[in-house]
Amino acid sequence: MKKIGIMTTGGDCSGLNSAIYHIICGAHKRGWSVYGIIDGTDGLVASTPNMIRLDINTLPPEQSFIAGSFLRNGNVGQSNCFERAVESGRVREFTKQLKKSLAQTKLDALILIGGNGSISLAWKTRDIYSDMQLICIPKTIDMDIPLTDRTIGFDTAVSQLMRFCDDLMLTARSHHRWFVVQSMGRHCGMLALTAGIAGGASAILIPEIKFDVDKLIKHIKSADTDYGIIMVSEGISLRGHSGRPADMISRKLTAAGITTRTAFPEHMQRAGNTTPADRILAAQMADAALNAIANNETYVMTALQNGEVTTVGIDVVVSSGHAEKDPNIDGLIISNATVDDNNPLLIAADDMGIYIGETK
Ligand code: F6P
Repeated sequence: MKKIGIMTTGGDCSGLNSAIYHIICGAHKRGWSVYGIIDGTDGLVASTPNMIRLDINTLPPEQSFIAGSFLRNGNVGQSNCFERAVESGRVREFTKQLKKSLAQTKLDALILIGGNGSISLAWKTRDIYSDMQLICIPKTIDMDIPLTDRTIGFDTAVSQLMRFCDDLMLTARSHHRWFVVQSMGRHCGMLALTAGIAGGASAILIPEIKFDVDKLIKHIKSADTDYGIIMVSEGISLRGHSGRPADMISRKLTAAGITTRTAFPEHMQRAGNTTPADRILAAQMADAALNAIANNETYVMTALQNGEVTTVGIDVVVSSGHAEKDPNIDGLIISNATVDDNNPLLIAADDMGIYIGETK
């Protein structure tokens, strides 16, 4: 019989509760006990680790599809967390305390459901987990984790953003105006690209593809409609301009005589009941994580590759993407997946006459 723990870290997304629910179910079938760590590493580092026993009654199926994490992910603003420890130069003490706290939990394995920041950090501080198995499950609305074709939370975020565009399109039509919608996604344009196509955007600007504002203006002016959506990813920049990307683009269009408004769906992209695709992915990832524990694997991440969920070494994950400095933890390099030039969605968008920048 194994004693396993679950911890959710980083920004939340829809699908976390689904993953926790399926882990509880699969562990129950194997006769293992499951504990949830409250508030991520903040809860773990407390003098007595903040941990609760989980069973089907603590998280019944009808509550497993709501967004957020019922275990919560921690408060990055508080003093007792990784970011603050780095800022105050107390990383050694902090990681020592984490290792001590983990020893107190007497867990055989920990399933960390996190984004690329959490996974990169777990690898950098891997000694903390050396006395137990560490299995990561990738979640993020940004779809920026290398080596997995999907992350938990992405599909629901696409759905949320698409529905936001659907609603805006109707008021855009009434008033003959263009909405510049700013998506989340950090340096990865996958969310903007996917939801932009689904929501009928006329132009989609993402950080990976250079764009020309004059060509964007020409594209909008020559469109055979006088309303619509221009999707811009939060990671784009415009030389010589500062401020929010949607505002920058909107100003340029307004100056060219195009009637615009900006719209910011913000954290609504991380909300919403979990879509079927995310629930199924959560079930598959939970199953793969439990199998990895049964097979005595450690320092691995579950990954969807060519339709099947498997595991890959975290060492390979962190060295596979584009290296970038973590915005929150000084000194941490994270590995990012981005949209490739030959991404089929980019090609389809271009073929459908959506302006996606200067791809050629
Ligand atoms: O990584 C997920 C994400 O939602 C990004 O898309 C966004 O830039 C960021 O987190 C927002 O973070 P916060 O919740 O700290 O504002």
